[in-house]
Amino acid sequence: MASLCASALLCVLCVWDCVWASHTSHVDYGGVPLWIDRLLGEPSVMSLNDRLDPYRYQAYNPETCPHGCFCPIQWPTALYCDQRALTGVPAGLPEDTQYLFLQSNNITTLPSSVLAEATELRWLIVDQNQLQGDLLVGPVLQNHTELRYLFANHNRLSAVPRGLPAGLRQLRLAYNQISSIGADTFQGLQNLTVLLLQGNHLQTIQPKSFTGLLNLDLLDMGENRFKSVPTYLPSSVQQLYLSGNAFSELGESSFVGLERLKYLRLSRCGLQNPGVHPQAFNVSTLVELDLSYNRLIVTPMVPTSLQYLYLEANEIQEFKLSSFCPDEGSLSYSRMRILRMDGNKMSYSQLPLDWVYCLRVLQNIFI
Ligand SMILES: *[C@@H]1O[C@H](CO)[C@@H](O)[C@H](O)[C@H]1NC(C)=O
Ligand SMILES: *[C@@H]1O[C@H](CO)[C@@H](O)[C@H](O)[C@H]1NC(C)=O
Ligand SMILES: *[C@@H]1O[C@H](CO)[C@@H](O)[C@H](O)[C@H]1NC(C)=O
Ligand SMILES: *[C@@H]1O[C@H](CO)[C@@H](O)[C@H](O)[C@H]1NC(C)=O
Repeated sequence: MASLCASALLCVLCVWDCVWASHTSHVDYGGVPLWIDRLLGEPSVMSLNDRLDPYRYQAYNPETCPHGCFCPIQWPTALYCDQRALTGVPAGLPEDTQYLFLQSNNITTLPSSVLAEATELRWLIVDQNQLQGDLLVGPVLQNHTELRYLFANHNRLSAVPRGLPAGLRQLRLAYNQISSIGADTFQGLQNLTVLLLQGNHLQTIQPKSFTGLLNLDLLDMGENRFKSVPTYLPSSVQQLYLSGNAFSELGESSFVGLERLKYLRLSRCGLQNPGVHPQAFNVSTLVELDLSYNRLIVTPMVPTSLQYLYLEANEIQEFKLSSFCPDEGSLSYSRMRILRMDGNKMSYSQLPLDWVYCLRVLQNIFI
């Protein structure tokens, strides 16, 4: 056993991870996995509920552990108050609380008077509560300069919180009722890398909505009410998810200015061939493109840089080699590794004879 593990502590964490995997299916934290930095002492479980005996972990400073919460000895700065039917944030938060788990309760507000106690907060997880309207607007978290993750997925917020601390790295607000984002909402959040806004009511993005987001990497605005690809997106974005919006068309300059764009998801957008401009995906940095569950009848033009293309569940009848290799001749070839075309209206025998010259590094094709 000892030879398999660097230390006894690592073994314990591994066992906890395995248990965790089987217990978190009801809360997905916005569908994007969490990076856990164990060197920083970040807890590797998001909930103690359904564990063998949570009270066994309530060993750290029981006298300062707020009623209704678990204070595990493994993570002395973590406070687990999730799934307790709480209607408010527990009073008397220990001053040194860094990781506060309040998901799956009935909390309607985050009062600054209660949170003011815990200024060392690094993670605040309030997914699946009843946070309403624009109650989070206002500088409730202004003084929490250590705050890195704020998760408030699955609430009833109608606005993005303002005045968030400048060190914030992830803001997850998926499945709320946000219908617009005011100018300069994110001003100063230059370290924000992940912003989840899927499952809201957004229709447009204003010119200054995303001002200040200089390092945003992942932006998910799927399942909103956009009728066209929003403009004024942060130019730093590498992963752009827009699946589940009803786009009637994709214009020539839909993704112009996104100079680092690598991963683009446009699944279930109702896309049809006449509406997709041949230049729409001419983004030379693109690596992965998800166009599954649309209504395309011909393969669309994609850049030769593309390595993963998902076209399953469309109505494709025609495989155009020029979609992948616009210039004839051996110097130009597609970098495609995985091509999914299953669930369409064509068969393997319909591939043009010379397709292997163009798709010469292909590892898998599904038809
Ligand atoms: C929230 O309160 C409602 C009733 O007001 C109750 O039905 C529901 O189970 C509560 N949810 C949680 C997570 O406690
Ligand atoms: C933040 O700190 C300042 C100065 O200590 C104080 O005046 C202000 O009320 C605090 N804000 C909140 C929301 O607690
Ligand atoms: C942003 O992150 C960098 C690198 O981790 C850090 O040096 C800087 O202080 C952070 N900025 C803020 C406002 O926290
Ligand atoms: C893509 O755009 C560039 C200019 O940005 C252009 O030179 C190139 O011809 C375009 N590619 C195709 C296949 O049209």
